[in-house]
Amino acid sequence: MKKLAAGNWKMNGTKASLAEVEALLAAHPGPTCEMLLCPPATLISQMAALAADSALMVGAQDCHAKPQGAHTGDISVAMLKDAGASHVILGHSERRTDHGETDAQVRAKAEAVVDAGLVAIVCIGETESERDAGQTLAVIGSQIDGSIPMAATAANLVVAYEPVWAIGTGRTPTLAEIAEVHSFLRGRLRGLIGEEAEGVRILYGGSVKPSNATDIFAVPHVDGALVGGASLKAADFGAIVAALSAA
Ligand code: PGA
Repeated sequence: MKKLAAGNWKMNGTKASLAEVEALLAAHPGPTCEMLLCPPATLISQMAALAADSALMVGAQDCHAKPQGAHTGDISVAMLKDAGASHVILGHSERRTDHGETDAQVRAKAEAVVDAGLVAIVCIGETESERDAGQTLAVIGSQIDGSIPMAATAANLVVAYEPVWAIGTGRTPTLAEIAEVHSFLRGRLRGLIGEEAEGVRILYGGSVKPSNATDIFAVPHVDGALVGGASLKAADFGAIVAALSAA
């Protein structure tokens, strides 16, 4: 299994930010892990042009479940693919919170992504109050059951475990807590898709930075990271890519 360093730029970045991509590619031309950046939709096409013939893949942060139609402001998977995207992040906690996305909606989008031949990165994670109440495994278990596409394989599905309270806060679970969740997720995936589960990348996300990446990547069943804030700067994301390549 090739590990995956994925960056989520969220609602950050304009054309000027593409200089960070040039710097990243110059510093890390051939990482041994996979390297993906998911910029705002407005930058996908230009970033994909920059990344052509390089080790960098480009993805999107959301999509609509339908192929086309009267859905003002939305973007279909075919459009993202046409722009150069190979992956789509789905069910990020900010989409679940800001837009009320349910597991069923996330699954419908994931089905559309997989049907179009792209990779779905399905995000799950507990809130702080759910963790305090001892509900973590129950919450993420039911999210994964409800959100992954029916035809999930090691090639078309990536799962990202992102505790909501760790996103953008500088706080992370302990390594033991990450290990518990990732091994639970591997088992849950086995129950859902059998042998294919062994090859599904399970990413950790939430305040990953150069200073904690090496420790997190040493945790069993952590197959990479989904990185928010630290993916905006080539130096930080590059250091995370290097840590994963060395893991
Ligand atoms: P963060 O975000 O790295 O800024 O905590 C992670 C994410 O939301 O994917």
